[in-house]
This record gives sequence, C-alpha cells and structure tokens, in this order.
Amino acid sequence: MIDADIKYIRNLFDVNKGLLKDIEDYANKNFIPIVKPEVARFLETMVKIKKPKNILEIGTAIGYSSIIMLNAYKDAKIITIEKDLERAEMAKDNFLKALLLNRVELIKGDAIEVLPNLNNKYDMIFIDASKGHYKEFFNECLRLLNDDGILICDNILYKGYVANEINVKHKRRTIIYRMRDFIDEILNREGIVTSIIPIGDGLSVSIKEAKND
Ligand SMILES: C[S@@+](CC[C@H](N)C(=O)[O-])C[C@H]1O[C@@H](n2cnc3c(N)ncnc32)[C@H](O)[C@@H]1O
Repeated sequence: MIDADIKYIRNLFDVNKGLLKDIEDYANKNFIPIVKPEVARFLETMVKIKKPKNILEIGTAIGYSSIIMLNAYKDAKIITIEKDLERAEMAKDNFLKALLLNRVELIKGDAIEVLPNLNNKYDMIFIDASKGHYKEFFNECLRLLNDDGILICDNILYKGYVANEINVKHKRRTIIYRMRDFIDEILNREGIVTSIIPIGDGLSVSIKEAKND
C-alpha cells in the first residue's frame, strides 16, 4: 500500500473521544505502542462478527485494545497479560475508568511463563507483544483456541523490515528472521487458515478449523 493510502485510512478511523482519546494521547506522548486507529477498527469489527465470549490478549500495555474489544461486544470477557508492571497498573486504572474492570482478568507477568499454565479455551486471541516470541506464543495459543476461534497477530510486517531487510541492525535482523519463520509457520500449519493484512504494522488473521471441517 502506498503512504497516501495509509495516511488516508488512518485519518478516517482517527475518531475517538473521551477516555479512548485520552489513552491514545497519553500513549503517543509517552512512547507506549498501541494499535493504530485502523487496527482498532479492525479489531472492533472482528469482535462484532465473531461475538467472542472469551478473549485472550498478550500485550495489554495500558489497556487500549482491550477496551476497544470489550466495548464491541457486551458479553465478552478478556484475560490480558502484561509484563511491564507500571503499564499493567495504568491499564487497571483505565479499565476502572471505562467501567470494565468486572470483565477483565489482568495478569501481570511474562506470557512465556503464563501461557503454559492457562487451560481455558478462548474464542478469540490477540497477540501484540514481543515480536521475537510470536512462534512460542502461537504454539500455546493454538492449544488455547476453540475450534472456529480467531487468532489475530499485530506487527507481523515490522515496519516493512520483514519484506525488505536492507540496512537493518543485527538486533532487528534477529526479529525479522523470527517473524519470517513465524509467518511461514502460520501459513503452513495444518488446521488453521491464515490471511495477512497490510494495515497498521501488518496483521495476520487465522481461523482454527474444527477437526471434521
Ligand atoms: C504493542 S504493546 C501492546 C499494545 C496494546 N495491545 C494496545 O494496542 O493497546 C506490547 C506490550 O506487550 C508487552 N509485552 C512484551 N512482551 C511480553 C511478554 N512476553 N509477556 C507479556 N507482555 C509482554 C510490553 O510490555 C508492551 O506493553
């Protein structure tokens, strides 16, 4: 997509007011990464289509995407994992302000350690955390996803570096190779069907097929 299209689409969805706008402003001012407006709208749309009763999110930051998803379907509950304790505390405050605290289980910890201990199943999972660990997250998430459940991953194109790694530093190169490996995995793993969507920083959307589909 060309830059003018991205800018145009982003402006179309830059519409929030009140608490969500305050969170966006705070995140931007303090360099806290949150989903882009067009990705927020995409998540909202997916929740409205899927109507997930149980959502799992990896990477809460200060609660923005959780609030977007919960506001999209009144019967949804979310369990969301954040390893940065300060951000997790801010997320809790924001859930309180949004009157959503009773629909949220916020786990403060590293998803690498938390996920193997989860056993409930989820209708929708959103991965938006350390890019170098997506494959580990994915293996656990597939186990935790219901049949016909949806898995959405953000940042899979990593600022264009995954497609084009010219002049990138060593640390980034490791992330790029891991992300390519992850993309290869989600496109080729039996039992799921995946699309890649070039909005925000690149999204993958997968559906887990029921065994006899
Ligand atoms: C891109 S931000 C999440 C943004 C959030 N989903 C939103 O759009 O409002 C990624 C967050 O994941 C957290 N994180 C990174 N690796 C993690 C891990 N292994 N376990 C839990 N949280 C992690 C970071 O601390 C950061 O706050």
